[in-house]
Amino acid sequence: MKLILTALIILLSGAVGSHSQTEQSNSVSENQNDRLLEYVLNEVQETFGKMDWTLLGEENVTLPNGENIEEYEAPYGIPQRFPYYLAGVDEEKRPLWISEWGKWNLKEAVEENQLREFGFYFLQLSHRVIKSIYGRSTSDLPITRVSCILDFGDLNVEQVVHVPTVTYVLTAARLYREIIEKRLGEATVINANYPAVTLINLLRPVLGGLLNRVTVHGTNKSRWLPKLLRKIPPSSIPEWYGGTKEFKPIEVYG
Ligand SMILES: *[C@@H]1O[C@H](CO)[C@@H](O)[C@H](O)[C@H]1NC(C)=O
Ligand SMILES: *[C@@H]1O[C@H](CO)[C@@H](O)[C@H](O)[C@H]1NC(C)=O
Repeated sequence: MKLILTALIILLSGAVGSHSQTEQSNSVSENQNDRLLEYVLNEVQETFGKMDWTLLGEENVTLPNGENIEEYEAPYGIPQRFPYYLAGVDEEKRPLWISEWGKWNLKEAVEENQLREFGFYFLQLSHRVIKSIYGRSTSDLPITRVSCILDFGDLNVEQVVHVPTVTYVLTAARLYREIIEKRLGEATVINANYPAVTLINLLRPVLGGLLNRVTVHGTNKSRWLPKLLRKIPPSSIPEWYGGTKEFKPIEVYG
């Protein structure tokens, strides 16, 4: 797995480098990429690498920085920049989380040295997602997994060709693999434009068979809407995804 990742990084570096205009800008951006690569790998280690994953969703969980995971307040306006919400339940009564990942500007967090805080914030998100399972499970209807809608609308190609950002996503995904395996029931990707499809293809070697639980729909709403409504009650999604006017999210973050 490590080899595949390294190979990918090299491939990507080549691809990005070849777009540079001159020798000089080429070497400047390569130096900067090298520095950022080192930074992202270190940050993945200091956040996701230091978490005891089995604790997520339990009581009194402590982040690698010593703070209580539920009380952590990410700085730099991170919650507003990276929002997500618990919308309702899917047809199988699994908690349904929604996030507009296409609008999440991770490249900015990479370039502004905000990955430590983003990492803790994402661990907090994971904790909340897992916790939402526990409250809903009964002996009659055991719930062990969640469902999610990831809206990749407007994902900017700049993020997908930025080697440090992609490296961050792929390295973090590798550490997340086990928990995704255990806790993700189904992910529905909507509005996947070309950059989003590229990103998903890059994740393929890391996530492998887990992608069988991911359904990817393109940007044509009149195509994905009927399919979405077959799996999700309209009361569980906002009107702009075909839900009812009365829709109210259960928990909103950001
Ligand atoms: C969590 O922490 C609180 C306050 O420190 C304590 O009263 C409680 O027993 C702890 N719960 C667990 C499950 O450890
Ligand atoms: C979107 O899909 C519908 C139904 O298949 C089709 O009629 C329409 O032309 C598509 N729109 C675009 C912009 O491709």
